[in-house]
Amino acid sequence: MPETKTAVLVRPANIHDVIYIYDLVESYAHMGNLLPRPMSELYRHLRDFFVVVKNDKVVGCGALEIFTETLGEVRSLVVAEDQIGQGFGKKLVRYIIEEASVIGLKQIMALTYAPEFFHTLGFRTVKKDTLPEKVWGICIKCYKFNNCDETAVVIDI
Ligand SMILES: CC(C)(COP(=O)(O)OP(=O)(O)OC[C@H]1O[C@@H](n2cnc3c(N)ncnc32)[C@H](O)[C@@H]1OP(=O)(O)O)[C@@H](O)C(=O)NCCC(=O)NCCS
Repeated sequence: MPETKTAVLVRPANIHDVIYIYDLVESYAHMGNLLPRPMSELYRHLRDFFVVVKNDKVVGCGALEIFTETLGEVRSLVVAEDQIGQGFGKKLVRYIIEEASVIGLKQIMALTYAPEFFHTLGFRTVKKDTLPEKVWGICIKCYKFNNCDETAVVIDI
């Protein structure tokens, strides 16, 4: 029997990926790990998104949202539950860092329950109040605003 080779790639998301991105984010949002993103918001922010595709199937996603001239955020980073631990999360974040660098950003942040994952990529943990744009721009709309238990991590690029 011919050997089947696994093909994995990271690429910018397209309109056909939205339903898969929605499902991936939902799968963790209901556990409280990620903020839910309605379909309408995913369409509006589609150009922020990248997907990891394994054998033509979307198995992970992540977004790069730009806040200021220097700062961007990794958001909605998810690898499908049955695909974790294969390096796909790392691949996605490396791709996002490269994109951020091409755009000209100087720093990327994330708010996360998995800081150790980000540490493996060179991010460091910082106090949330060192990130005012994020805190006052987006967090103020979050239901966890007064009770945020996520860790802020940043990387200089
Ligand atoms: C966090 C997540 C994206 C990691 O994806 P992944 O494909 O499993 O990660 P990788 O296989 O690329 O792991 C890379 C490294 O991080 C480590 N790692 C992965 N997930 C980790 C976690 N939750 N906690 C601590 N370390 C973790 C791995 O052990 C690996 O270490 P190594 O390079 O020394 O071997 C994935 O577990 C996920 O989708 N989690 C739920 C959603 C979430 O919390 N997203 C982050 C919100 S910002």
